[in-house]
Amino acid sequence: MTATGRLEAGLIAGVRVRRACADDRAALEAMFLRCTPATIYRRFHGPVKAFPASYLTEALAGVPVHLGLVAVSGSASGPAGGGLDGGARVVALASCRLTDSSSAAELGVLVEDGWQGRGIGRELLRLLVEYADGGQIPELHAQVLIEQDWILGMLRPYGQCSSVFRPGVREVRVQLRPRVDPSHAAGSAGCSGLGGLVVSRRASGTGRNDPVNE
Ligand SMILES: CC(C)(COP(=O)(O)OP(=O)(O)OC[C@H]1O[C@@H](n2cnc3c(N)ncnc32)[C@H](O)[C@@H]1OP(=O)(O)O)[C@@H](O)C(=O)NCCC(=O)NCCS
Repeated sequence: MTATGRLEAGLIAGVRVRRACADDRAALEAMFLRCTPATIYRRFHGPVKAFPASYLTEALAGVPVHLGLVAVSGSASGPAGGGLDGGARVVALASCRLTDSSSAAELGVLVEDGWQGRGIGRELLRLLVEYADGGQIPELHAQVLIEQDWILGMLRPYGQCSSVFRPGVREVRVQLRPRVDPSHAAGSAGCSGLGGLVVSRRASGTGRNDPVNE
């Protein structure tokens, strides 16, 4: 079954959110370097020195299976085609990537330290969920550190949560409650908006382990 999701870019907490594109690469690399090691560890669960190359390339590629969103500060309107104008900074990268089985999507959100706690993460999550739901993806996965229990509170409004535990890490699975009319038409997958992305939905898998319902 094929469906489409379409989302609108917008302004939140003084930043503009839009789909990530190749022109954002240098700004994202600079953002990574502004993040503290603790923030990087929470996102990637290891002491990585840069965005994983294949992850970043795919997040910026505008491919149907991977939605990358950036939050841009100092750029209320931005240039016509997306990208960055003078003085603008990328302060967050969020992504929703269809898993290899196509039965779920993996979420990842990174807000740089100085911009955390302003509602940006919650809004990026809302947009990722809306996108996934519009594409009829039934389940979302997010890997969080065990001590980040509070992130479950951000995910629970979107559906039934269960967790699979690995040392230090909790893989949260969210069975989405349908929220968006899947008959939405596809838009462009350009740089300036979030685009209309097409994903294939298959039956939800059963998972590797026995998840704990929460
Ligand atoms: C996790 C993250 C994406 C949250 O984004 P954010 O912009 O800081 O969060 P928000 O400001 O939208 O806050 C959302 C909610 O979480 C709560 N929250 C935020 N940071 C928190 C923290 N460190 N401890 C407990 N609660 C926290 C906020 O109080 C808010 O709840 P409220 O609306 O009821 O007040 C961001 O902190 C981040 O990038 N962290 C490092 C990477 C990471 O952990 N990513 C998640 C795994 S992929």
